[in-house]
Amino acid sequence: MKRPRITSVETKWMQERQSAMEALRDMDRRGFLKVSATAAAAAMAYGLAPHSFQPVRVTHAAEPAGFRFAYISDSHLYERKLNERFVRQLMRAVDDVNALDPQPDFVLYGGDLAQLGQPAELELGAAILKEIKAPVRMMVGEHDWFLDLGVMWRSLFGEPTYSFDHKGVHFVVLNSILEEDFWTERKLTPMERMKTVAGLDNNAQRPFMVGQDQRDWLQKDLAKIPKSTPLVVFSHSPLYKLYKFWNFWTDDAEQVQAILKRFAHVTVLHGHTHQLLTNRIGNIHFHGMLSTAWPWPYAPEGLPEYTVQMSRPDPFNHADGCGSGEMIVHPDGVADKIYALWNRNPITVTASSLKAPGKKGRPAPPNRPAY
Ligand SMILES: [Fe+2]
Ligand SMILES: [Fe+2]
Repeated sequence: MKRPRITSVETKWMQERQSAMEALRDMDRRGFLKVSATAAAAAMAYGLAPHSFQPVRVTHAAEPAGFRFAYISDSHLYERKLNERFVRQLMRAVDDVNALDPQPDFVLYGGDLAQLGQPAELELGAAILKEIKAPVRMMVGEHDWFLDLGVMWRSLFGEPTYSFDHKGVHFVVLNSILEEDFWTERKLTPMERMKTVAGLDNNAQRPFMVGQDQRDWLQKDLAKIPKSTPLVVFSHSPLYKLYKFWNFWTDDAEQVQAILKRFAHVTVLHGHTHQLLTNRIGNIHFHGMLSTAWPWPYAPEGLPEYTVQMSRPDPFNHADGCGSGEMIVHPDGVADKIYALWNRNPITVTASSLKAPGKKGRPAPPNRPAY
């Protein structure tokens, strides 16, 4: 007797997702949303959540008194006819976040949605992010900005600098990737300017900065906030100086830090570095979050001493070292962060390891020397 061919539910789910991807290739936005919804419905029908594919389930710490939000960043989308892999990887992160239980209060998108600032890249990203069930807050990255200096990004997502309050915490979103004009004198076209900034080590560009206007805005925004209020700041680049040649750097970081100094606890979350990264300078905790596109290597000058070092990604698995993240914000505003790595066990870096350095909950030291 011929044995029936058995297809596992995971394989069936992957096949459904694959057909959604194929249909996505030549589709307008309305059609894309329809296909994506079909794939999501298929996953539900199989009783599958994307997290169930992870070798180890995400285990959360006991539910704290605070709240939780999720973080997706650095998708670097090309137009889908050029590169479908990064589209697929962003969709994977969206599925992961939609499968979280409980759902996050909101999702912060950390910048570099597009690769070369093209309208079609940004529109594709906006369409995919619309699939997220929780409210989405947007931040801009240099790859979104330097083709038209933010015209298209603004038309899709609004102003890149803003603040909001949530459950007793004051949140600030900054555009930290501004650069001094290096293009006018060189007579660069918009695309030449974009490609210059898109190169990791292209030293023709200038260092990132928040700039005087936004620092003035920040000063004003925070003037009405009591210093005991927990503060969470989102910036695309780290708001400190890590490695200038790759722009893992914000040139006016000290001036921004000085504005944040009077607050008891400040947490800064950034994208851009595409890797696990933790730092503390005085009252400010800094957290580098994962990319959905690819991981960058660590900067050659070493790591801040609080960093839990990420092992080198597997070069034969392009999704290794990628993923999304979650923050559990405690009532004092200090946060535990969970790195939801796709092909590795999740890693949690607790607030206590930063609050009481060397005393409790300190993560294992990195292998690289601290600078
Ligand atoms: Fe990036
Ligand atoms: Fe970036």
